[in-house]
Amino acid sequence: MTVFRSVLDTAAPQFAVHRTAVLAALAQVDADCARAVAGGGEKAVARHRGRGKLTARERIELLIDADSPFLELSPLAAWGTEFAVGASVVTGLGVVEDVECVVVAHDPTVRGGASNPWTLRKTLRAMQIARENRLPLISLVESGGADLPTQKDIFIPGGQLFRDLTRLSAAGIPTVALVFGNATAGGAYVPGMSDHVVMVDGGAKVFLGGPPLVRMATGEVADEESLGGAAMHGRVSGLADHVAVDEVDAVRIGRRIVARLGWRKAGPAPQAAVPPRYDEEELLGVVGTDLSQPFDPREVLARVVDDSDLDEHKPRYGPSLVTAWARIHGHRVGVLANAQGVLFSAEAQKATQFIQLANASATPLVFLHNTTGYMVGAEYEQGGIIKHGAMMINAVSNSRVPHLSVLLGASYGAGHYGMCGRAYDPRFLFAWPTAKSAVMGPAQLAGVLSIVARAAAESRGTPFDEEGDAAMRAAVEAQIEAESVPRFLSGRVYDDGIIDPRDTRTVLGMCLSAIASGEVSGTPGYGVFRP
Ligand code: COA
Repeated sequence: MTVFRSVLDTAAPQFAVHRTAVLAALAQVDADCARAVAGGGEKAVARHRGRGKLTARERIELLIDADSPFLELSPLAAWGTEFAVGASVVTGLGVVEDVECVVVAHDPTVRGGASNPWTLRKTLRAMQIARENRLPLISLVESGGADLPTQKDIFIPGGQLFRDLTRLSAAGIPTVALVFGNATAGGAYVPGMSDHVVMVDGGAKVFLGGPPLVRMATGEVADEESLGGAAMHGRVSGLADHVAVDEVDAVRIGRRIVARLGWRKAGPAPQAAVPPRYDEEELLGVVGTDLSQPFDPREVLARVVDDSDLDEHKPRYGPSLVTAWARIHGHRVGVLANAQGVLFSAEAQKATQFIQLANASATPLVFLHNTTGYMVGAEYEQGGIIKHGAMMINAVSNSRVPHLSVLLGASYGAGHYGMCGRAYDPRFLFAWPTAKSAVMGPAQLAGVLSIVARAAAESRGTPFDEEGDAAMRAAVEAQIEAESVPRFLSGRVYDDGIIDPRDTRTVLGMCLSAIASGEVSGTPGYGVFRP
């Protein structure tokens, strides 16, 4: 029997402290998400509805199957920037006619649905998810195109959007555009580049240049309908494959298109799922806000994996990293989870072997982060910690099985890289609300700066300003703390969302199912490992 036996004391004061802290952090995330859901605010939503239009979220709700959940991605994009939280677009995974799809829906209530730099980043990420996981893409279009005041940040990189759209098609991944409203200039290439196009009669306006621009450019006086209405595109230009009588009809036609794709998943089918033996609710009490307190990641896994059943690999070797085989919602996975925070040479070597084994058996990997990084100090440098960390990073970089990352606690330094941080292309990456990620902890970072400044003053022979140093350290600590929290990182689209710890199993299960839309295979080879 390999079922993990939990020793989590749910009656301990510590458990209650953690639970309270996590619930408070979740309440904050909920409040931020509510800002995204509110879109452009009451007035803009009322104006939109007054035109007989549905909101982006209502369109999605109608589009996906009645019993399908919607895994919204990057809901807090643009948090902490000058732009509205959510970045004027809603993206996520939903099931349409039994087919898992990526949905990208402009929010026309936020600055006319115009794309700012964060909209672009969020949309490109959704399209990357469609490409990597072989998921059909459905665009719900109504946008004023480029956010004109910030055009310098989106015009040139924004070309990737249309390039990626047609590359999806070339890769055999269907793309469907349902056009509800404006799709001007560059925006016109979303329907232009999609395999299937539906336009709402009286709503869709798809043109390279609207009436004012055409008049400026050529002197021609033309109205919107003749330049880009659905009736014209359906009968004359041929850009519209279907003309819908209204928004609900457009969604209905979109669903019929997906139903007729004959889509088959190419990945392995899951076994029957078995629920964990321990309550997911208890995940609220495992990790608190004090990330210097270690926790046993097996207590997390016992509430995430099927039947709480873990086959540990090398349990006695490199104990600061747990490596184990398990299933989540019936999908086979290998798990790498930090136990004591620091990664030593043994842990790095163990991880390297485990990643190779996963590639040999085409098993997706799940990385659960709680690491302060690789061990420093003379003993460890002499023992080859750089070589061993590099081996692990090599294995992660060149691994070809799908990776999923969840930041449970700390994710600092090169440990973030070795554990498949954002730059290592995990198929999905989520964070718990009390996680933190940065080059190092705030106090350590401020301390390093202080030591460097002290040494510089000494070598110049100038007196060291102790008071100024204390103020600098406090300011730097506050800055790094603010930049390490999940909503800041989510704002920059460095993760795919902050999740409620209790949803970890559900979210990972949905991602593993989506991943199985594509083939799952390991790498045929690695680069040079330095032993
Ligand atoms: N960039 C920046 N802001 C934009 C924008 C854009 N491309 N398009 C619209 N907005 C802003 C408007 O200035 C307005 O801001 P305000 O609320 O502060 O006044 C808000 O979004 C709503 O626009 P509005 O025109 O009142 O809404 P609408 O629903 O009646 O019309 C559009 C929406 C998109 C049809 C219309 O705004 C439009 O034609 N925009 C320009 C489209 C264009 O030519 N884009 C070029 C792309 S390369």
